[in-house]
Amino acid sequence: MAQIIGGLTTSHVPSIGKAIAQGQQQDPYWKPFFDAFHPVHGWLARGRPDVAVVIYNDHGLNNFLDKMPTFAIGAADHYHNADEGWGIPVLKPFKGDPALSWHMIEHLVAHEFDITMCQEVQVDHAFTLPMALMYPGGRDWPIATVPVMINSVQHPLPTPRRCFKLGQEIGKAIASFPADKKIVLLGTGGLSHQLDGTRAGFINKEFDLWCMEKMRHDPEALAELSIHEIIENAGSQGVELLTWITMRAALQAAGQGEVREVHSTYHIPISNTGGAVMLFETSGRAQALAAE
Ligand code: DHB
Ligand code: FE
Repeated sequence: MAQIIGGLTTSHVPSIGKAIAQGQQQDPYWKPFFDAFHPVHGWLARGRPDVAVVIYNDHGLNNFLDKMPTFAIGAADHYHNADEGWGIPVLKPFKGDPALSWHMIEHLVAHEFDITMCQEVQVDHAFTLPMALMYPGGRDWPIATVPVMINSVQHPLPTPRRCFKLGQEIGKAIASFPADKKIVLLGTGGLSHQLDGTRAGFINKEFDLWCMEKMRHDPEALAELSIHEIIENAGSQGVELLTWITMRAALQAAGQGEVREVHSTYHIPISNTGGAVMLFETSGRAQALAAE
C-alpha cells in the first residue's frame, strides 16, 4: 500500500524562480527563505519519496476565467512548465503517475467530489517552484508528480470546510492505493498577500503566524474560517491558504500515524508575500525508515 510519509507547505512567489536563475539564494533578502529548505533536503534524502501530490492553484495558465473548475486533477504521463514569463530557464518536464491520478479520481468521484479530470496539464510557478526548491540543481526530477488544482482565482471559491473535506478524501484515496510507494504531499501558496486594489502589498504577520500554529496543532480551526475572513485577514490572494488546509487534512486523514512538525520558517516579505515554509511528517514514516 502507498504510504504518505509527510507534507510540505510553502509560498510560491514567481520571483523565487528569478532568484534561482540569478543565483541569489544567499543574498540577505532571500537567504532566510532558501535556508528553510536545507532541513527539507535532508528529510527528502532520508525518506526518498516516489511521488509528490502537489496541491496548488493554477493562476490562469490552464483554467481561465471563462472555464474554471473548482477542483481538478492531472492524469498525464508528463507535465510541462509553461509559466507566465520572467525569462526563467525552462524546467525539465515532470513525470506523472497516471495510475495514482486515476485511483485518486475514481475514489474522489465515488465519494461525491465531482472533480475535473485533466489528461493534459501545463504547470505554472505554483507547481514548479516548490519542486525546484525541494530538488535544487536542475537535474532530472527524482520523483513523479500528481497535480491537484484548487480554484483560488475566480469567485465563488470553495469554502475552507469543503477543501478540508477534499483533503480528507485525498488522504484516504492515497492510503488505499495498492502500490508500494512513498508519497509526499505539497500545499503551495500563501501566506498573506494582496497583489491588487487599494490594499496591494498587504501582509499580516500576526494572522500568518496564527495559521501556522493552527497547521501544527488544530487544523480544524482553519476549516472554520470563511473565505471573507481569509480575504480580510490575509489579503485577496491569501486565499491560497486553501491549498495548505487541503494538504493538512489529507495528511491527517490518511491514518498513517501522528502528524508532527519537523521544521518551519516565516520570513517577510518575499516579494509581496508572507513567506512561509512548513514540513510535517507522519509517525508511519519513522516506522518505514526503521524497517529499511
Ligand atoms: C506573488 C505571490 C503569488 O502567490 C503569486 O502567485 C504571484 C506573485 C508575489 O508576492 O509577488
Ligand atoms: Fe500565487
